[in-house]
Amino acid sequence: MALKITVIGTGYLGATHAAAMAELGFEVLGLDVVPEKIEMLKRGEVPMYEPGLEELLRKHVAGIEGSSGRLRFTMDWAEVGEFGDVHFVCVNTPQKHGEYACDMSYVDAAFESLAPHLHGPALVVGKSTVPVGSADRLAARLAELAPAGEDAELAWNPEFLREGFAVNDTLHPDRIVVGVRSERAEKLLREVYATPVTAGSPFVLTDFPTAELVKTSANSFLATKISFINAMAEVCEAADGDVVKLAEAIGHDERIGKKFLRAGIGFGGGCLPKDIRAFMARAGELGADQALTFLREIDSINMRQRGQMVELAREALGGGSFLGKRVAVLGAAFKPDSDDVRDSPALNVAGQIHLQGGQVTVYDPKGMANARRLFPTLAYADSAIEAVRGADVVLHLTEWREFRELDPAVLGEAVTTRLVLDGRNALDPEVWRRAGWTYRAMGRPTA
Ligand code: UDX
Repeated sequence: MALKITVIGTGYLGATHAAAMAELGFEVLGLDVVPEKIEMLKRGEVPMYEPGLEELLRKHVAGIEGSSGRLRFTMDWAEVGEFGDVHFVCVNTPQKHGEYACDMSYVDAAFESLAPHLHGPALVVGKSTVPVGSADRLAARLAELAPAGEDAELAWNPEFLREGFAVNDTLHPDRIVVGVRSERAEKLLREVYATPVTAGSPFVLTDFPTAELVKTSANSFLATKISFINAMAEVCEAADGDVVKLAEAIGHDERIGKKFLRAGIGFGGGCLPKDIRAFMARAGELGADQALTFLREIDSINMRQRGQMVELAREALGGGSFLGKRVAVLGAAFKPDSDDVRDSPALNVAGQIHLQGGQVTVYDPKGMANARRLFPTLAYADSAIEAVRGADVVLHLTEWREFRELDPAVLGEAVTTRLVLDGRNALDPEVWRRAGWTYRAMGRPTA
């Protein structure tokens, strides 16, 4: 009989994982502790913008016409404990307030709530990003709390999905990493992932600590790549070089690779910034803090980019104050194809300029509602053209395709001054300059 799967926590990770498991043919029960989320999901609605996710959900959510009916949602822990052979824990692990360390309270609460309902054989699989050592601790807690005793087992299976590509990354992962302590756990997870493994996804078997570390080290490496190229942008800026050409040229070396070398206002979002900080904090607890001191520099290079974007704008406006200046900001989400504004470099820059007296108007294709909630004092426009109307400067801060496809000639009619600052190095300078704009970006020559 096909395995029955539960998914605990229905955010980006959990909602996508639940829908993907149903797509792979399993019966799936998703749980969340937020009633509004569960109500939405039961109607086949997704609480965030993620391309393709709503379609996939509607294909499987029970009660929706024409669906497979394999995916249901509940708030009842007993039902979840009763139902599942494999339980995926997908709750979030945000940064602790006022500290670098990660807040494990949602993970801990999920284990405390689930374990007492495990009366028979079950595999609990952690997917959340956690400090190394957590799986060991949680395995012990599971053994204490689960009535099934040793029949309730733990495995660790980090998730590498990118927002904006969550569905594809989940259905066709570029690797599946599983930390296990028994052949039974390995066998179950091979069964869960049989389809992607057959399609070619590598299956990497590890112990608990390695599985946990794979995730935090992968994100640290990605953050390092971005901060590296941003550091090169600072040097290019000083030496009058072109960081975009530089990235292209070093990227031809296969050992370096082209990806994640886009210089600009840096990384944000719910993962990279907090993950590198939590990693440093955990290394400190383990007495290995020296190994990760470089991540401090990665973090500060990254945060510096936001301030430099503000300074570039100030300089472009004549070097004085922002008072009375109209600043159009294109982009609010931390990356394109997402409505996520958590630690968004774009909103950070918009907020700084606003606090210095600039009249900032923001437009983002999907991030408006979330941006308004986080920064209610900024002005918002319903389109790019409305946002730039009367602007003294236009800041391109999230590289949506919609912005790359804007016609600079049309926009030029709406602004006061044809001055565009590309915080993502994603617009074509030639096209904008030909339309009479002054184009500036960090780490690129002025003309
Ligand atoms: C990241 C990891 O990529 C993913 O594997 C992990 O599971 C979760 O964290 P995500 O947060 O969705 O995913 O964003 P990502 O695509 O990695 O981008 C992070 C940030 O870096 C964005 O703000 C993006 O704009 C920025 N970025 C990315 C750059 O500034 N330059 C680049 O070249 C690439």
